[in-house]
Amino acid sequence: MLRTKIASTGMYVPSRIVTNEELEPIMDTSDEWIQQRSGISERRWVTDSDTTCSMAVAASKDALNKANLTADDIDAIIFGALVTDYIFPGTGVLLQKELGCSKPIPALDIRNQCSGFLYGMQVADAWIRSGMYKRVLLIGSEIHSTSLDKSPRGRDVSVLFGDGAGAVILEATTNDTSLIMDTAIYSEGAYAEKLYIGKPSTNDRDRLSAFMTGEELPREAYPIMDGKFVFKHAVTRMAEAFTEVCKRNNVDFSEVSMVIPHQANIRINHMILESLGIPKEKSHHTIQKYGNTTMASIPITLDEAVTTNKIKRGDLIAFVGFGAGFTWGAGLARY
Ligand code: UT7
Repeated sequence: MLRTKIASTGMYVPSRIVTNEELEPIMDTSDEWIQQRSGISERRWVTDSDTTCSMAVAASKDALNKANLTADDIDAIIFGALVTDYIFPGTGVLLQKELGCSKPIPALDIRNQCSGFLYGMQVADAWIRSGMYKRVLLIGSEIHSTSLDKSPRGRDVSVLFGDGAGAVILEATTNDTSLIMDTAIYSEGAYAEKLYIGKPSTNDRDRLSAFMTGEELPREAYPIMDGKFVFKHAVTRMAEAFTEVCKRNNVDFSEVSMVIPHQANIRINHMILESLGIPKEKSHHTIQKYGNTTMASIPITLDEAVTTNKIKRGDLIAFVGFGAGFTWGAGLARY
């Protein structure tokens, strides 16, 4: 029977490190507040040479190299980002061009925020299991730093986010020692405005007028988040989704050797682990260094766990994610 395995992982982060101390004078914040409330010490912000596509290219090449593959070995791309190089077309096609794929393979752009990796994984898994494609590049590449309100008004959100890209190559296998076992994904659009950027919007007539007046941008041009509300739902929903995938695969929590959670807030992740009775040591975090990189956060964290030998082939690993929408989900895999 055809199944999907994670053939390799890759990542890229910009070279520019932005410490909490650097944000203190511009956002009326403090290193102590940021570390205590989120676990973040520093994040990366793009340099002039980084684009959503260039970061995606770097992370993809890292993953391709680790699997000894070339761009022509990929049969499809699933690309995700909150904000992209162009309003349209999506960055998937730019990535296809820049990677130098000589075949006209499909490039699917998805917009599922921090759950994008789990959404993309489910789609890729279904494609591969159906025999449609043999090898899929799944990638999130996120530039937040150019869309943040870097004044005290935006500090509750702006200190949390960072830039970066994370990729996996998913490929067909008939071997059951290394495979994606299951993914569960959900959404609850009732809470779309609990974390969002509202403008520019097609509901404005004309869509760009607020940006062309030269006056101060509307508050909705920057991310708006009801932090406490999102926090509570993130803890509940990720624990629920994790429990669901374990239950329907007859996996006891104690059998999971490593949890790779979305990196929004280390307190959220520790609360989930505690509620499930899983020791913190059985999870990997990169939020301290990179902040929240939305769709890139799970693949970046997975890549680091693999390259530092915290995860080995055959290990039972779990993914959990939650983000704007609300969207959330969980997955189980034998790495
Ligand atoms: O990836 C997508 C999903 N995102 C998430 O899951 C994020 C969920 N939410 C969170 O992680 C947390 O709610 C935050 C980290 C955003 C905030 O932590 P909190 O413990 O919920 O703090 P709060 O929003 O209740 O703010 C507490 C205080 C407030 O001051 P007062 O009203 O108590 O005087 C804020 O004004 O902290 C103040 N504050 C800050 N102070 C220094 C808010 N942001 C900052 C800041 N620096 N950056």
